[in-house]
Amino acid sequence: MVDVDVSVGGMKNYAVGVPMQDNGFFLRGSGNLDWGMKNRLAQIFDPNDGKTVMLAFDHGYIMGPTTGLERIDLVIPPLEPYVDCLMCSRGILRTSIMPTVKKPIAMRCSSGASILKEMSNEIIGIEIEDAIRMNSAIITTQAYIGGECEKESLANMSYLINQGNRYGIPTMGITAVGKDMVRDARYFGLATRILAELGCHVIKSYFIEDGFDEVVAACPVPIVIAGGKKIPELDALTMCYKAIDQGAAGVDMGRNIFMSDSPLAMVQAIQAVVHKNMKPEQALEMYNDLKAQYTK
Ligand code: R5P
Repeated sequence: MVDVDVSVGGMKNYAVGVPMQDNGFFLRGSGNLDWGMKNRLAQIFDPNDGKTVMLAFDHGYIMGPTTGLERIDLVIPPLEPYVDCLMCSRGILRTSIMPTVKKPIAMRCSSGASILKEMSNEIIGIEIEDAIRMNSAIITTQAYIGGECEKESLANMSYLINQGNRYGIPTMGITAVGKDMVRDARYFGLATRILAELGCHVIKSYFIEDGFDEVVAACPVPIVIAGGKKIPELDALTMCYKAIDQGAAGVDMGRNIFMSDSPLAMVQAIQAVVHKNMKPEQALEMYNDLKAQYTK
């Protein structure tokens, strides 16, 4: 007979009577997800504050060599230490980001369009197996609510969610705004809620001055904001501050970082706003100080 110690006394401590901790999960709407999903989301969102700074540099998949991203291999790696997640296309990941990177990857999975034609006319261009091969922590596509190819873009979204669900990979749904859409609370309330109802685990949307808090309240999963077109640094930091203050779980920002005069300074200022709740004016001071140091 094998001598197995199953005694309750002696040196072992079973803490009988102490209930096992079951603290749920820190991220909005994610408590009922499986372990793999939660683990991936916890790589993207800091469990200490529930926030994230995602660095978006996927623009080239429709825009070609976007200003500031002509040489991703030179521009992005220095920024990596200051962000929580990198968002890009698979072609850029394979060619321009070292596989030694420590940050989780948000994989842009849509393709089929360019800025020269109807942009809502997309397909899903990446098989889930390839997203897995590249160790994606989250997969993404966009929906054009009210756009010409609304139905197709929502079909892409559902397809991607279904693929990701098979393997425990969450999907970030992006609310792409067509040229004719009014960027208001009604529109973003509609778009973000639809994507959450389809099963997106995270939504990337835009900050709006009026009613952003209500958009967040009606969306049962975390919302991160895109930065949009390049604006002055103080305006970008202010937008970021207001979004976090009104319930955003972070940013997925590109142009306002990599098109800044000092991307390295700007990414740290954004990080301070998101994770340290730094006020915009103070963050701008930080930006200016760091920029001065880096340009010496
Ligand atoms: C657009 O092609 C992508 O979805 C970008 O990742 C997104 O727009 C965020 O970047 P930005 O802050 O430049 O708007």
